[in-house]
Amino acid sequence: TVLVVDFGAQYAQLIARRVRECQVFSEIVPSTMPVAEMMARRPKAIILSGGPASVYEPGAPAAPEGLFEAGVPVFGICYGFQVMAQTLGGVVERTDVAEYGRTPLTVSGGSLFEGLPADQQVWMSHGTYASQAPAGFTVTATTDVTPIAAFENPEAGFYGVQFHPEVLHTEHGQKLMRRFLELAGVRPNWTMVNIAEESIEAVRAQVGDRRAICGLSGGVDSAVAAALVQRAIGDKLTCVYVDHGLMRKGESEQVEKDFVAATGVNLKVVDAEERFLDALAGVTDPEEKRKIIGREFIRVFEAAAREISADGDVEFLVQGTLYPDVVESGGGTGTANIKSHHNVGGLPDDLQFELIEPLRTLFKDEVRALGEQLGLPGEIVWRQPFPGPGLGIRIIGAVDRERLDLLREADAIAREELTRAGLDRDVWQFPVVLLADVRSVGVQGDGRTYGHPIVLRPVSSEDAMTADWSRLPYELLERISTRITNEVREVNRVVVDITSKPPGTIEWE
Ligand code: XMP
Repeated sequence: TVLVVDFGAQYAQLIARRVRECQVFSEIVPSTMPVAEMMARRPKAIILSGGPASVYEPGAPAAPEGLFEAGVPVFGICYGFQVMAQTLGGVVERTDVAEYGRTPLTVSGGSLFEGLPADQQVWMSHGTYASQAPAGFTVTATTDVTPIAAFENPEAGFYGVQFHPEVLHTEHGQKLMRRFLELAGVRPNWTMVNIAEESIEAVRAQVGDRRAICGLSGGVDSAVAAALVQRAIGDKLTCVYVDHGLMRKGESEQVEKDFVAATGVNLKVVDAEERFLDALAGVTDPEEKRKIIGREFIRVFEAAAREISADGDVEFLVQGTLYPDVVESGGGTGTANIKSHHNVGGLPDDLQFELIEPLRTLFKDEVRALGEQLGLPGEIVWRQPFPGPGLGIRIIGAVDRERLDLLREADAIAREELTRAGLDRDVWQFPVVLLADVRSVGVQGDGRTYGHPIVLRPVSSEDAMTADWSRLPYELLERISTRITNEVREVNRVVVDITSKPPGTIEWE
């Protein structure tokens, strides 16, 4: 493993991803973790991430004590570079001119830059800089503003860069990452085949001959988690799919048919439409809707679990928790406590299961690759994210079956046309929203209409934390608009949401 020491901000996750793209497993650890604990994980190399602080500010996070004496190669990036400089006896100062964004870099040599051009573009973001390298280090690159943009001490295994190799704007960033790992002697052997095999083995060892259940949401995470556990324990896994009536057109059928066909898993489908719609009747407040849906979901799920455990002991619950969830909840060390997880609509604290979380070290794109490795069909693996509360939070206004049917039709048209245009994978997610309490005047055929607007909300994103509105081709938008207004009688207007996140969220509620 390669440890990425997190000095704050979002850089560490990106670095960990880039390392993994080099077929090397990487984990994020807090900068406060004692070195002994880090060494217990037997890292082959350590990367110090960037961070928002300046090294000489009081209280700025320092290098873990003894890190540079541990005999492990270290790569310092941005703040991590400055930490390295300062800890090893160099000097870090404030610059007069801060450097932000794309910056020309001049390389003067060094083993890290071997084989790369002398002039290259890098991404800078700093207001302090190293003015003096520590003893034993060679300066290997500069910019107009920064006299030491990179340095190294290959004998000690220490390398550092002031810029951000992990962002795509740094022209040769990924090559530098790969080169560091090579210099550190880390072999690229983290492949999907190995990951799948190891995870299956681990689950088998954990469960033994006991039983497990898994809530399927139709989303990729729970599907891949279920497929993996099923490989490990076969019939001792039962999947539960709660059809709350808020699904999109064809969705329940897809889970029932495609997933079962691909995996042969035991599936228990619970038809709970009436129960959910009754509970939601007349409710317009988004938070209230979410609470009701979450609550009803838990009740149905618990009842299903009791039914299953009547014929055997269900001791485990499979969850599709992903690595960002783990990192963001400050975890990393895996204690099996139920946390409320939106994959299955949020589970109560007193649910007495031991957790199986086979995806808790993986990022979303890795989960997709693993799904492919496990032989799941593309329609499941490349499915766009869909929120647990379903169409219930895409109807602005009260939810009833008539409105759901209307939205289902409009949504199906939008999805169909997106697929036909071959853009499924270019768009992160494509919510279609019904403004059920809004009406506007239109003219269709030879008459006046007074119908509802439909909002198209296609977005691009890497992780749903931030998003940008997708620039869909006009011809596609036109086709969707024409079809929806022609085919869905109650809709006489189609609008496109062009708000990024922030300030808008992806979903309207
Ligand atoms: P927002 O609307 O907050 O959504 O920008 C970010 C991502 O999360 C999804 N989402 C949910 N997923 N249960 C889920 O499983 C939920 O309650 C929920 N709310 C939002 C949303 O679709 C987007 O991908």
